[in-house]
Amino acid sequence: TGYITYDPGYANTGSCSSSITFVDGENGILRYRGYPIEDLAAHATFIETAYLLIFGELPTRAERQELRDILSEQELLHEGLRHHFEGFPSNGHPMAILSAVVNALGPYHPDLLEITSKEDFLRAAAKIISKVRTIAAWAFRKAQGLPFVYPDPKLSYCRNFLHMMHSIPYKQFEPTDAQVRALSLFFLLHADHEQNCSCSTVRMVQSTEANLFASVSAGICALWGRLHGGANAGVIEMLQNIHDGDLSIQECLERVKKKEFRLMGFGHRIYKSFDPRAKILRQAAHDMLASTGNDDPLLDIALELADAAMSDEYFTERKLYPNVDFYSGIILRALGIPVNMFPVMFAIGRMPGWIAHWNEANMDEAGRIHRPRQIYTGNKPRKYIPLDSRL
Ligand code: CMC
Repeated sequence: TGYITYDPGYANTGSCSSSITFVDGENGILRYRGYPIEDLAAHATFIETAYLLIFGELPTRAERQELRDILSEQELLHEGLRHHFEGFPSNGHPMAILSAVVNALGPYHPDLLEITSKEDFLRAAAKIISKVRTIAAWAFRKAQGLPFVYPDPKLSYCRNFLHMMHSIPYKQFEPTDAQVRALSLFFLLHADHEQNCSCSTVRMVQSTEANLFASVSAGICALWGRLHGGANAGVIEMLQNIHDGDLSIQECLERVKKKEFRLMGFGHRIYKSFDPRAKILRQAAHDMLASTGNDDPLLDIALELADAAMSDEYFTERKLYPNVDFYSGIILRALGIPVNMFPVMFAIGRMPGWIAHWNEANMDEAGRIHRPRQIYTGNKPRKYIPLDSRL
């Protein structure tokens, strides 16, 4: 069968070449299309960043407006899709609803199941980026037993999302500018991270020539777990336990060291000195709480826990530092987002990255179906045992 390289978890396997995102884990460097994440975080909006990731360049004013217009055009869901929400129990996890409804976009847009032109791609990408917001907000409303709020084309991307989440009949939710900026920053920092598990899943599904909606829906499922996009919810649960007195910071670290559980929001396959996204989010969490006068005791616990872990040999020896998920939950809480929606928020942010990678793979003429090998450890050949002879 030939020689097989054994690389569990693909720690050293490059599965593709890509020109989208650069990560240097030793030095804590992250760049989207060559632009340092710090510059984008300071100056760009999520929508400009989405354009950059998908099309390779920052948009001109006219291009940004064109994208905004098409996102507004695409924000409504087909009323047929609305009925999908009825089929879920009210405590159904919003990630399950999100992946199912994103996949169901495909049959409602059969002309986009095969993408053959740049125009088709733009339309499909805009549909997903715009509608994922509506789907996510409606998954939340469904769980709350609240009426669905339709998107308002006059509002910007982030304001519109918060409107669909929090407005009630006759009372429009008015977020502060600081809240809107924090949400845009949260999405921007999650927008891509090269070949992580969910992005690789999207590329793997694409490699079978599956459509964009199905591929992205698979990415949502891959993101869901606690070691990936579910970690942000795990962090808040852990901080809440400490806050409620169920365990102290030292007890928490001791139990982590005994490997009873992992310190959520810590560690990364690639970053071995610091995660630049965590650095930006730590400051953003501070700034946002200061500007809103909101004092979240979980931020103080997070800072204390991070400092204690980073002065402990167990964590320093293993090069474990706070990752993007460690501080992000503090921002989401201040936006009134419940914990079970945290991975959904990650998914909305990651959408431009998944779409850019799907397109890069789709355009790659040398692309092949992804088909990893294995080291077989099962039985040697054996003879079939007839049913009556089995003990
Ligand atoms: N808490 C305690 N120990 C840890 C942690 C952690 N968070 N992360 C890694 N380790 C230990 C692990 O036990 C192992 O120790 P030992 O050598 O004694 O067996 C060593 O560090 C290497 O761990 P690994 O599992 O081989 O590392 P990995 O690169 O396969 O895993 C990770 C990366 C992110 C899954 C892991 O660090 C982790 O589970 N972190 C907690 C979950 C989390 O925060 N995930 C979000 C990641 S960033 C955003 C995203 O991609 O979604």
